[in-house]
Amino acid sequence: MPAPIALIGMPGGGKSTVGRQLARRLDWPFVDSDALIEHRLGESIRAFFDREGEERFRDIEQSAIGELTSTPDPKVIATGGGACLREANRQALRSRCTVVYLRSTPEELFRRLRHDTQRPLLQVSDPLGRLRELFERRDPLYRECSHFIIETGRPSVHTLVNMILMQLELAGLVPAHLARSPVEPPRS
Ligand code: S3P
Repeated sequence: MPAPIALIGMPGGGKSTVGRQLARRLDWPFVDSDALIEHRLGESIRAFFDREGEERFRDIEQSAIGELTSTPDPKVIATGGGACLREANRQALRSRCTVVYLRSTPEELFRRLRHDTQRPLLQVSDPLGRLRELFERRDPLYRECSHFIIETGRPSVHTLVNMILMQLELAGLVPAHLARSPVEPPRS
């Protein structure tokens, strides 16, 4: 049975959007760990973070990652950007999943997230500076945890999904025909 695929990377790097489409192509279930956490908390991550603080959030995130990786059934998991901060999460993800790092520069992320109000770590006066700090600290951790690195740059979601599928096919981790989709749908 193929291992679950976990997408990791900075906030705004497209983990949820790419993950959802990747799951559709594979005909596998898709799970978003942040959405699961919010469902369990019954409130937004931002509200919880503001009240209880980052460490409490990381504890809950760690149990969600532990749970999502505890069964080997095929699925695509989009993780939160900070999931790789804890050694236990890196270990669980790397040993039980095929881990794909969606790597984007802080400048690209800033372009996508400049109007964001939901990510607690970015509600600061200099979000680009914060993204640079987070990237500097996390990029080595994402690399350590991942089996594949995909540079997101400017390709469409469709192209990114094809790039991931091609890598996984070459490594014999998904059936070959899934990686071939010659026609890109028109952008809306
Ligand atoms: C976080 C990223 C968020 C969410 C939380 C903390 C982070 O997820 O888990 O706000 O530490 O980078 P996304 O990467 O989906 O934005």
